Amino acid sequence: MAAWRSGFLDLLPAAALIADLGCGPGRDLAVFTHAGMAAVGIDLSEQMLRLAQAAGGRTAAGDIRRPPLKPAAFHGLWSNAALLHVPRPEVASTLRAWRSLLRNGGVLSLSTSLGDSEGWEAAPYRGDYPPPVPLRRWFVHHDRDDLLNIIEQAGFALLAVQEEQRRMTWLQVRAVATWIQ
Ligand SMILES: C[S@@+](CC[C@H](N)C(=O)[O-])C[C@H]1O[C@@H](n2cnc3c(N)ncnc32)[C@H](O)[C@@H]1O
Repeated sequence: MAAWRSGFLDLLPAAALIADLGCGPGRDLAVFTHAGMAAVGIDLSEQMLRLAQAAGGRTAAGDIRRPPLKPAAFHGLWSNAALLHVPRPEVASTLRAWRSLLRNGGVLSLSTSLGDSEGWEAAPYRGDYPPPVPLRRWFVHHDRDDLLNIIEQAGFALLAVQEEQRRMTWLQVRAVATWIQ
């Protein structure tokens, strides 16, 4: 993760404007901020935003399917383990919305899970898992080639694609914004 994140930062200018889409508790947002970037984290969860702020990040509440951010303003978009919660019919429009936030030549770094299923899955976060009340999240796992095609159709050229095994198979994609539809 650290090497993948550094590779993203290396492609950006100093003090770049970065959005962390689905920032969660702000681990990556804090790294971007401490690296001197103008980073903002977007999340729907108020609790996650509070954690991200406590970690030193600047945040805004919003839906990553239509981020409440200025179009064509960003040098970089980072999204780790968040697109996997966007329902499949909304993935292409979400990627187009992300493309619209980037300047031409801006960089997208995306990490999401591979597979073919979509549905509720137990969230094994708590120490006392399984908890008395089931915790569930909506997961959408992607076919590698289908997702890469959607990313390209949204206006990106692929720079790097890699897979990593961590409980699930993760697809990490780095892509550059090429054209606006
Ligand atoms: C698995 S966590 C990943 C958090 C962080 N990126 C990380 O790597 O630790 C997924 C995050 O996406 C957020 N999320 C899911 N769907 C979202 C949506 N439609 N809009 C904004 N945030 C969303 C969740 O609230 C959660 O914080």
